[in-house]
Order: sequence, then C-alpha cells, then structure tokens
Amino acid sequence: MPRVALVTGAAGGIGSAIVERLEADGWLVHGVDVADADLTTPAGNRAVVDAAIARFGQLDAVVANAGFQHVSPIRDFPEEKWDALIALLLTSPFLLAKYAWDALAESGDGRFCAISSVHGIVASPFKSGYTSAKHGVIGLVKTIALEGADVGISASAICPGYVRTPLAEAQVADQARVHGIPPERVEEEVFLAAQPVKRMLEPSEVAGAVAFCLSPAGKGLTGSPLVLDNGWSAR
Ligand SMILES: NC(=O)c1ccc[n+]([C@@H]2O[C@H](COP(=O)([O-])OP(=O)(O)OC[C@H]3O[C@@H](n4cnc5c(N)ncnc54)[C@H](O)[C@@H]3O)[C@@H](O)[C@H]2O)c1
Repeated sequence: MPRVALVTGAAGGIGSAIVERLEADGWLVHGVDVADADLTTPAGNRAVVDAAIARFGQLDAVVANAGFQHVSPIRDFPEEKWDALIALLLTSPFLLAKYAWDALAESGDGRFCAISSVHGIVASPFKSGYTSAKHGVIGLVKTIALEGADVGISASAICPGYVRTPLAEAQVADQARVHGIPPERVEEEVFLAAQPVKRMLEPSEVAGAVAFCLSPAGKGLTGSPLVLDNGWSAR
C-alpha cells in the first residue's frame, strides 16, 4: 500500500522539489499552496488536512514547508509582518500536527517533518520574526516527538542554510538596503558570509533530506533537527 504525504508550499522552490522527490520514491502526495488554502488561518490548515485524507483515504506524513521572509530592523519591523510570520512558520505547523494527529497515529508509522532553517539554530540581524518562528518550530517537533512516541509518530525539523529559491531571491533588495551594499554583493557578503562552504543549496538537496526523514531509515530521527547548512552553525 503506497504511503500518503501532505506537502505545504508545494508551488515553491523547495516544496515543488519535495513533491517531485517523494513521488519518485513512490509516495502519493497531496501538494498544496496558497491558491488552495491560506495557511495563516486555522480553517486553511484544517481544509488541507481534510482534503488529503479525502483524496487518498489515509495520511502517513505531513511536510510543513510553506513560508516567507521579511527583512527589517526590529525598530521598524511591521507588527503585521511579525504576526504573519508566526502564523505561517509556527502556528501552521502546529495546526497541521493537531488536525493530522489522529490520521498519523492510525498510520502506525506517522511522520511529521517541518522545514525550519539554520535560523532555527542561529540568528541573523534583521530577521527577528523569521528567526523566532524557526526556533519555535524546533520546540514544536521536540514536543510532537514526545507526545507521538507511544503512537508511532516521528517528528523532525530540517535546518537548511541558504537555498536557491524565489524566497532567497525576494530578499536581495531588502538585504542590500539594510546592509548598505549593492544587490550584486548580497549573495557573497550576506547569504554566504557565515557559511564555511561558499555555495547555496539546491532545492533537491533539501528534498533529499525530507525523503530521508520520511523513509524507514529516518524513523529514529525524532525530536531533533537535521542541519543542512554548509557548516554555518559549526562556528
Ligand atoms: N530558500 C532558503 O534559503 C531557505 C532556507 C532555509 C529554510 N527555508 C524554508 O523553506 C521553506 C520553503 O521556502 P522556499 O525557499 O521554497 O520559498 P518559496 O517562496 O519558493 O516557496 C514558499 C511557498 O509557500 C507558499 N506560501 C506562502 N504563504 C502561504 C500561505 N499563507 N498559505 C499557503 N502557502 C503559502 C508560497 O506561495 C510559496 O509557493 C520555507 O519554510 C522557508 O522558510 C528556505
């Protein structure tokens, strides 16, 4: 019997790579993005879980991947951007876990995988909302791991460094402004400054980490982050 996964942010750079990889591995995948439901709302999260179960009759894994970024100093950080970052990056994974809980328990081998970030382990200036939410999601997967242990649910968080996607591209102008440098210097002087290995990840590399977390070999990875950061957090 094929296993069924729900993937959020499926139209994005990393999300579409996750869908492609899981389908290649034999998963049935229900991929959703903002056109299907707004995941900053409880109703949106409920709807995508219900739709996955209605479509395939079961749910064995949830990959909480949808996200966005906002770059600003704290003194200017718009409160509505803070609220939206917490809603999408932290509250949505919580709601997905809550609404999918019974189905994941029924699976007998349920998996929950959140795409956190190296910013779940370390901070960068001008990313207060994103960094706070990504740290929080690591606390969430630890809690899911403890509560899920007796019902066969494993939970992990993947922590990538910079990945070449629209989310990274979209912050070049703001990073240039807050750091006072031209946009063409952002990749080298901001994105890759803290990474010993001077390259951005490709979405397929993050998808490979997700595939491992959801595989039989990844079941023991529960309650802990899988850090894929080109050495960033080793300093
Ligand atoms: N790109 C990076 O450098 C990087 C590094 C570490 C972690 N991440 C994380 O990886 C995940 C995917 O990021 P990406 O780089 O592929 O970004 P992306 O912008 O390419 O894709 C994100 C997707 O989320 C969707 N989304 C946004 N708001 C939504 C909403 N309210 N409801 C439903 N869907 C919504 C977007 O439509 C988009 O398709 C995010 O959680 C991000 O924080 C990215």
